[in-house]
Amino acid sequence: MRKLIDKLAVERTLTQDEFKHILSGTDPYLQERAAKARDTVYGKQVFIRGLIEFTNYCKHDCYYCGLRCSNTSVPRYRLSLEQILDCCRLGYDLGFRTFVLQGGEDEYYTDDATLASILCAIKEHYPDCAITLSVGERSRASYKRLFDAGADRYLLRHETADAEHYSTLHPAHMKLASRKQCLQDLKEIGYQVGCGFMVGSPEQTLDHLAADFLFIKELDPHMVGIGPFIPHADTPCASEKAGGLQLTLNALSILRLMNPNLLLPSTTALGTIAPNGRELGVLAGANVVMPNLSPMDTRKKYLLYDGKISTDDDPRYCRDVIDRKLQAIGYEVVTARGDYIDL
Ligand code: 5AD
Repeated sequence: MRKLIDKLAVERTLTQDEFKHILSGTDPYLQERAAKARDTVYGKQVFIRGLIEFTNYCKHDCYYCGLRCSNTSVPRYRLSLEQILDCCRLGYDLGFRTFVLQGGEDEYYTDDATLASILCAIKEHYPDCAITLSVGERSRASYKRLFDAGADRYLLRHETADAEHYSTLHPAHMKLASRKQCLQDLKEIGYQVGCGFMVGSPEQTLDHLAADFLFIKELDPHMVGIGPFIPHADTPCASEKAGGLQLTLNALSILRLMNPNLLLPSTTALGTIAPNGRELGVLAGANVVMPNLSPMDTRKKYLLYDGKISTDDDPRYCRDVIDRKLQAIGYEVVTARGDYIDL
């Protein structure tokens, strides 16, 4: 096992079978090697991103997601420009220098001017901040327009790199190929791009996860967002089991060893399946945390899965908690923009 981990650290990739072998292991050496790789590039610094969940409308019906359009028990909302700017002001005062605008695929924003004007307003008020968009699949022209309006980064999880598995998680009209095309377009336009997947999603096998790593090797993204799948009661996946902690941590360490420079969040979903999940994620190689800046009264309306943490905690408190938790394990939250370091 250790030989294989060393091989991954040197060659930055493995065969499908070798990835599977490491994924199912429990040797702490994996995490040690991954943490060392991260420390070489980023030291003990962890970047923070302020998450603003600005719309929970979604036209899609992904079988696993609590915001799917056929879930009629979710009260839908959109934040006004003022509300978004209020979130940014609060975040800026707390030291955030990246804002992540995340939402469902909301038809209201088919007019790119709406999103572009939000981006322009944020950039005008906070020119020293980076903006990450996470609003799903759009046309290349739209991505270009949003990039020109000030978006620096884009998160679009591919969810699974296996087309058949993709079709078990999504309605028939959604295609892995178009997701991949979007990621390619985003990269070519010049965004710092993040893909990602859920660990332990329904029907997922180790072969699927290995395929995810091989796809990521090929795409060579700047960021990768992963977290355990967690069932949501009002979805067709309600009775599926959640993704495992060890498997998620192993996946994080593998991603770190594949690219020591990667911007790799320790996600809220990881913090939801284990009380110290986000710290464990950092110890496994993650270097980003994304506390929530959304208004308190919208938090419970943005539930992708059951049991999501921090829905009752205000941003100042969340920031303090994460500071203390990371300090306790020897890491330091920093307020830099935290752009990808291209060596
Ligand atoms: N459990 C964990 N993650 C989920 N996501 C959506 N639903 C769930 C769930 N039930 C993730 C998807 C999506 C991101 C915004 O949240 O990977 O891309």
